[in-house]
Amino acid sequence: MNSISKWKVLDEFDFELIHQEPTQVTKDSLDYYEYINSSRNRMQTGKNVQCIKWLVEHLEPGMIVEESFGGVGIFAIAIQNLLKPAQHRITELSPHCVEQLHYALRNYSGIKIYNGKAEDTIGISDDCDVCIMDFPLFTYSREVTNPTWVPHLKRLLSKNPKLVTITDGARFHYHLHWDRLNKKFGLNLTNDFHSYIEFMSIWFYEHTGYSIPRCGFHGSCFYYSLEAIPPSKIEYLHFGEGTGPAGLRSA
Ligand SMILES: C[S@@+](CC[C@H](N)C(=O)[O-])C[C@H]1O[C@@H](n2cnc3c(N)ncnc32)[C@H](O)[C@@H]1O
Repeated sequence: MNSISKWKVLDEFDFELIHQEPTQVTKDSLDYYEYINSSRNRMQTGKNVQCIKWLVEHLEPGMIVEESFGGVGIFAIAIQNLLKPAQHRITELSPHCVEQLHYALRNYSGIKIYNGKAEDTIGISDDCDVCIMDFPLFTYSREVTNPTWVPHLKRLLSKNPKLVTITDGARFHYHLHWDRLNKKFGLNLTNDFHSYIEFMSIWFYEHTGYSIPRCGFHGSCFYYSLEAIPPSKIEYLHFGEGTGPAGLRSA
């Protein structure tokens, strides 16, 4: 039997983690155990889940929620407690993560966990209100060069969900990339990363009718919401040095 450790998510919700080794899930990525097994990355995860909280906490309870990349279930614990969904459907490719999801969520109801590809579930059902897209890898540059998730996102957004959250890795080393993006794709980004989020808000709106009202971020990732509204002033919230334990800490 693998060992199990106990955690608090968002400083109050119990979370138990079965210790396992990372599994290769695609040719260029491992499952979330690669990340959660490192203490530095656990601090980042604590910031990630606070970004998600800020994006969804104003929503009413009783909605239908889909999470396309369930990982080890830290977002799922937050969503269960913050949103009390009527249904919560989770997809995850790694069998080890799926075992962990079943364990961590065993005391909650209305949850369906599918062990398979998000490509087969995103935008398939007509009744999803809130979709949490914690992509393993998503940036404008990747999607324009080799569209992987955008076709699925377009299908999802054509079904009129109320709110979708996107994890975008362009924050990582943004200061080294913005000029290269301008040259490669003819953009007008500046060295201020807000220009990237403003650009993405307009880009999503032109392609899907959804824009970005809010963006939570830390040193390596953007977490933004998409809603079916025209682009306007974007609200930002930064999770800086020392804020990780408020999202994930040892119990
Ligand atoms: C960023 S992690 C999600 C972490 C999660 N939010 C949590 O709280 O634990 C992304 C997850 O997506 C999974 N994954 C990668 N490619 C996938 C695919 N095509 N379909 C479904 N899951 C996938 C990985 O195994 C990984 O666990």
